Amino acid sequence: MSTERTGLLYEGKSKRVSETTATDRVISQFTDDATAFNGVKYAEIAGNGVMNAQLSAFFMDLLAQNAVKHHLIAVLNDTDQLCERVDVMRVVVVVRNIVAGSFARRNGIEEGQALPVPLVELFVKSDPLDDPLIGHDAAVALGLAQPWELRLATDQALLINQVLRDFWAERDVDLVDVKVEFGRTSNGMPVLVDELLPDGCRLWERGTGRKLDKDVFRRNPGDLAETYREVVRRATGGAP
Ligand code: TYD
Repeated sequence: MSTERTGLLYEGKSKRVSETTATDRVISQFTDDATAFNGVKYAEIAGNGVMNAQLSAFFMDLLAQNAVKHHLIAVLNDTDQLCERVDVMRVVVVVRNIVAGSFARRNGIEEGQALPVPLVELFVKSDPLDDPLIGHDAAVALGLAQPWELRLATDQALLINQVLRDFWAERDVDLVDVKVEFGRTSNGMPVLVDELLPDGCRLWERGTGRKLDKDVFRRNPGDLAETYREVVRRATGGAP
């Protein structure tokens, strides 16, 4: 039986999520919207949705081959993907390999220093609060996640980081940091959700330091489409 879209469930910053005739499934539609700084900076970029959908599915597949469980069930067309319906955990997990962004600002250090081992940080998923940093115990105390869920999410985030870091290293790109989100499926197990895009990580070309991620958009939105096309070319070896 095919799964049909019913009502709109949620409209995100780069995708529209609909309920379907199957209660445990949703359809995510990637849109051409691009945002940064929690939606403060916005642009509509032709072809962005198709590129994002393609990239995210590509990386979900790569991760599944490396024992990462995720929510993507099937690619329906250029922009639409059938996913498991989940209860999204309100904790965002960031893994860092090289100092950048808020870690550099918060600790008063320059960007660019390699960390001795990958470092995990947790943030509260909250637009009004601008996703603040939170400690493990505070996340548990506030009921954002159970200790075992955080352990599992942390282990999965480190595995995801390792797979993506090796993948990009082979293409002469450093994975500086990566953000992942998890959701609980109907059986209560956390799986990787959301999308895997240059929006949620930092990619720096080795040697030149050229940025292949959303920092390009944050500084100059005009260059984003070309940068993402370059990421698709490098990741998949094919035309976007
Ligand atoms: P971070 O350095 O904490 O923040 P910023 O990008 O604002 O300087 O972000 C680390 C990485 O995680 C970076 O690649 C962006 C990504 N990220 C998100 O995409 N969403 C989030 O809510 C958070 C906290 C991080």
